[in-house]
Amino acid sequence: MWQQNYEGVFFLQDRASGFKAIIAIDNTRLGPALGGCRMWQYDSDEAAVTDALRLAKGMTYKSAISGLTYGGGKAVILSHPGQGAREQLFRTLGRYIDKLQGHYITGMDLGTTVADMDRIRETTSYVTDVSGSLGAVNDLTATMTAYGVFLGIRASMKRVFGMESTLGRTIAVQGLGKVGYRLCRYLREDGAYLVVTDIDPERVKQAATDFGATPCKPEAILSVPCDVFAPCALGGILNDAALKRLDCRIVAGAANNQLAEARHGEKLRELGILYAPDYVINAGGIIVTGSELGGGDAAEAKRNVEKIYGTLTNVYETAAATGTSTSAAADRMTEDILRK
Ligand code: NAI
Repeated sequence: MWQQNYEGVFFLQDRASGFKAIIAIDNTRLGPALGGCRMWQYDSDEAAVTDALRLAKGMTYKSAISGLTYGGGKAVILSHPGQGAREQLFRTLGRYIDKLQGHYITGMDLGTTVADMDRIRETTSYVTDVSGSLGAVNDLTATMTAYGVFLGIRASMKRVFGMESTLGRTIAVQGLGKVGYRLCRYLREDGAYLVVTDIDPERVKQAATDFGATPCKPEAILSVPCDVFAPCALGGILNDAALKRLDCRIVAGAANNQLAEARHGEKLRELGILYAPDYVINAGGIIVTGSELGGGDAAEAKRNVEKIYGTLTNVYETAAATGTSTSAAADRMTEDILRK
């Protein structure tokens, strides 16, 4: 999947203000590159570049397999300034995005907020998730991401157990942020039994109160005996060490780039664990953005998100028919769409 074939990678720097960012445009064959702006403290500039490239490519695949007429891109900001400087920093990023004349459209991601998108909006129109937008009102983006993951879990249950309900099933959720917490709500309403973790103990306590969830230490979540493990924190979680510890039938969650390397998709298949490819199951947010850019409303966005169930089922059927891992099947289906 990760052939090094990008349309453009831009390194942006303004020494005076301390601004340092990367914009990666992976592919615009289907339309302008869509992908949020992440602000994160990276160990090195190289780590930031790698993250931007992987995330941009993931966005290409996510849009294509979701049937959107958009490509993939990502912006990554490396600095962590104070509030005044922060506002200036996002205006500066907006100016750079504007120079790309619509080839890249940004939005919210890890570490950025609606207020940040409003600052970007002051210097370019190529931004979503601003105040009052479809995705921003009541954080519809996160809600629909969680809803899509929930439907994807049901599609996975159907595949493995022959019944899509999660009633009485055990789901281990890693990460109780915007998406993970909402996912817990959907699952609890469906009758699932939850085991949850977060590095923020307050969120775990809250989930125990709200959903009767069983708390778990962050380092122990991978080995919890469960039907579904739902990674909803950071990427790269499915690595050699983690795969030795998993005690589940299904991995299906919101985190981007869950597989540390492509070969871990095959390893999961060998272990008899059904893996829901991340960019298929977590596409709810980008589908909302696509609906918004096309002038659609929340009801249309929700209808489009509901297609995730069918798309994932297609991936599972293709993988079974071709004897490949679900991640390889999803990649191939996406690459076919991009070629056409
Ligand atoms: P968030 O930042 O609101 O929540 C992440 C949560 O994970 C936080 O509560 C954090 O404390 C927790 N966490 C971090 N490291 C952890 C660890 N080692 N163990 C346990 N918990 C840990 O982020 P959000 O928006 O909920 O996104 C979650 C994941 O889903 C991310 O990987 C994101 O890229 C992905 N995603 C989010 C979308 C969205 O609409 N927000 C759309 C598609 C993917």
